[in-house]
Amino acid sequence: MSSIPIRLGILGCGNVGAALVKIIAEDQRLIEAQTGEVLEIAKIAVRDVSSSRPEWVPTELLTDDPYSVVDDPSIDIVVEVMGGYEPAKDLIERSLRNKKSVVTANKTLFSDFGEEISELASSQGRDIFFEAAVAGGIPLIRSLRVSLAAERLRRVTGIVNGTTNYILTRMAEDRLSYQEALKSAQQLGYAESDPTSDVEGVDAAAKAAILASIAFSRKVSLGDVSRDGITSITLDDFDFAKRHGYTIKLLAICEWIGDSEGDSGKISVRVYPAMVPFTHPLASVRDAFNAVFIEGDSVGELMFYGRGAGGLPTASAVLGDIIDAAHNLRYGTTERHVERSIGQLLSIDELTSQFYIALDVSDKPGVLAQVATVFGRNGVSIMSMEQVGLGQDARLIFITHQAKESDMKKTLDDVVGLDSAKRLVGFIRVLPG
Ligand SMILES: NC(=O)c1ccc[n+]([C@@H]2O[C@H](COP(=O)([O-])OP(=O)(O)OC[C@H]3O[C@@H](n4cnc5c(N)ncnc54)[C@H](OP(=O)(O)O)[C@@H]3O)[C@@H](O)[C@H]2O)c1
Repeated sequence: MSSIPIRLGILGCGNVGAALVKIIAEDQRLIEAQTGEVLEIAKIAVRDVSSSRPEWVPTELLTDDPYSVVDDPSIDIVVEVMGGYEPAKDLIERSLRNKKSVVTANKTLFSDFGEEISELASSQGRDIFFEAAVAGGIPLIRSLRVSLAAERLRRVTGIVNGTTNYILTRMAEDRLSYQEALKSAQQLGYAESDPTSDVEGVDAAAKAAILASIAFSRKVSLGDVSRDGITSITLDDFDFAKRHGYTIKLLAICEWIGDSEGDSGKISVRVYPAMVPFTHPLASVRDAFNAVFIEGDSVGELMFYGRGAGGLPTASAVLGDIIDAAHNLRYGTTERHVERSIGQLLSIDELTSQFYIALDVSDKPGVLAQVATVFGRNGVSIMSMEQVGLGQDARLIFITHQAKESDMKKTLDDVVGLDSAKRLVGFIRVLPG
């Protein structure tokens, strides 16, 4: 057991930072007994030192100058839990240049600059750890990076945004409209007053980029991820889904498409709401929980489940990283740096899927035949069809067989151009059963 403490500089003392300070203070003995590391918080940078803080935060350690933390030669590890691009990026890079290892929970920054920052860490002989950046408290990144490092992974499918999973769960189970469910999420503190990043799939796409980079050892950034959000999902969609044995989830899908050997494969990274069969393990992930379903050639199917956000779960993941970084510093080693090649990304247009389509049309003879002709002309085969009367109009609901995304898009463009078509009211991809 070592007695020389590892000194920490923490950038940020909000939800995650304050929870981390609490765990380190309360569990100091346990941490030392289980890991042999003694952690000492040296400084905590915040924006406003006069803001009120939880009683366990030692106010004498607070500073509003984050550079005094990253430039302090006595600090061994910098923990970045302030968020955003700048000054977080500059502070992380400066910490690494100052020969400190860094732990961050910053998915936004990491999804865009993860590779650049990792290369800098490697060149400085220091670690950059980011377990908490994806799926909060779930030990996913380390599992992908270490335990599954030699596995040929085929697909990583995740519910990685707790806010949208909560909204979709309330819609499915309590029949709340999207707006009512969003309001409930905001009241519970799951959604921000501006929920755009969550409901438009940006947050999930940032996590998908990080997951794909690690799972497939390729450079993937946020801009590479094709993305649809959940704002157009309706209770009618849920009713149809339920009748046919599905629920609706916002999925982040990272997929390896191609040979099992070498580098010849392409990858696809996408985020969209999908109809998920009740029999799929992800269908039972409710409320604000996260889960990630992994498929690999040798390992088969794996599922990770837990709290994807919240101060304490996220701080727990950060603490695990701190312990790893502390061990490495003590033994003069670092995490293995994986050189990532440029990802050959497959456009979503080239993928195939089944689709659910709901279309309002004039309720006149011959309309169904017109619509079906458009599907057939574009090579999209209909698996099932329902018609619901709406007075003067009718709603046609289709599930297609597997079809190419580009063919489906062309079909929709052509269908909404028909005189008899009123509105496209539903369009959701369907996961195979
Ligand atoms: N919350 C979660 O459940 C969760 C889950 C996974 C990952 N994360 C990630 O963890 C990070 C932190 O999230 P959070 O929820 O803890 O954020 P937060 O509650 O908003 O806290 C941010 C902290 O950073 C400080 N800060 C911001 N800008 C600063 C600056 N320029 N200089 C010095 N201090 C600054 C703030 O100071 P003041 O207190 O003075 O304002 C605050 O203490 C983010 O990257 C987030 O994406 C969060």
